[in-house]
Amino acid sequence: MFASRTNWRLDPNRFTRALEEHRRSGKQLLDLTVSNPTDCGFEYPEREILSALSDSRSLAYRPESKGFREAREAVAAYYSGRIGFVISGKASNRESIDPDRILLTSGTSEAYSHIFRLLCEPGDEVLVASPSYPLFEFLADLADVRLVPYTLQYDHGWQMDFGSLCAALTRRSRAVLIVHPNNPTGSFVKPREAAELVEICSSRDMAIIADEVFLDYPLDRSRRKRLRFPMGRSRSR
Ligand SMILES: Cc1ncc(COP(=O)(O)O)c(C=O)c1O
Repeated sequence: MFASRTNWRLDPNRFTRALEEHRRSGKQLLDLTVSNPTDCGFEYPEREILSALSDSRSLAYRPESKGFREAREAVAAYYSGRIGFVISGKASNRESIDPDRILLTSGTSEAYSHIFRLLCEPGDEVLVASPSYPLFEFLADLADVRLVPYTLQYDHGWQMDFGSLCAALTRRSRAVLIVHPNNPTGSFVKPREAAELVEICSSRDMAIIADEVFLDYPLDRSRRKRLRFPMGRSRSR
């Protein structure tokens, strides 16, 4: 009755069973995999967030496919002037962001669904680091995209293995996905790695998908740098 793309093995594995057992026993658990910022002791402007929900403008149905203009302007202002956001081809070299180039989604998973649909035909391939966020496999299945792993190697910190990345490229490769900082390694993509990736992707007309969902929560503030990629270099297929 259901399509085969969601015919996943969902029975709990040994690790999940052991975890459930540990929880049931009431023993203390130190979970290093928690990635929910609202559970990790950060401070938020709680009053402002809650009062936004009582704004009567929220009661009017006002569809805007990219997300409310005011919200996109606020996002643009938040990122404006931060390293990594340069709109090439503008007269001024002040780093600025055009709200029209921002599309708001209800979360990252929805954004992945849009970006996979935008870039890939069914069966096209997206390269993804290993180890990385396990949900990618499910998100890719839902979009009929094939995920192809490339390796992150541990050698004085996590490094992208460009040998394995290049070996994984085929004529169906459409994009390389990087997570900065990565989940679960916590490693950042280094500027020279970003530069090499740009070389590889621009020469093959492939996109770079950069997931910076944890970038605002660094342990070491000096590492809070967005990746700088030249924009607008794409050629037609
Ligand atoms: C790499 C990565 N991207 C995105 C997300 C969040 O996804 P969503 O916004 O769909 O909850 C997570 C959550 O752990 C993640 O690890």
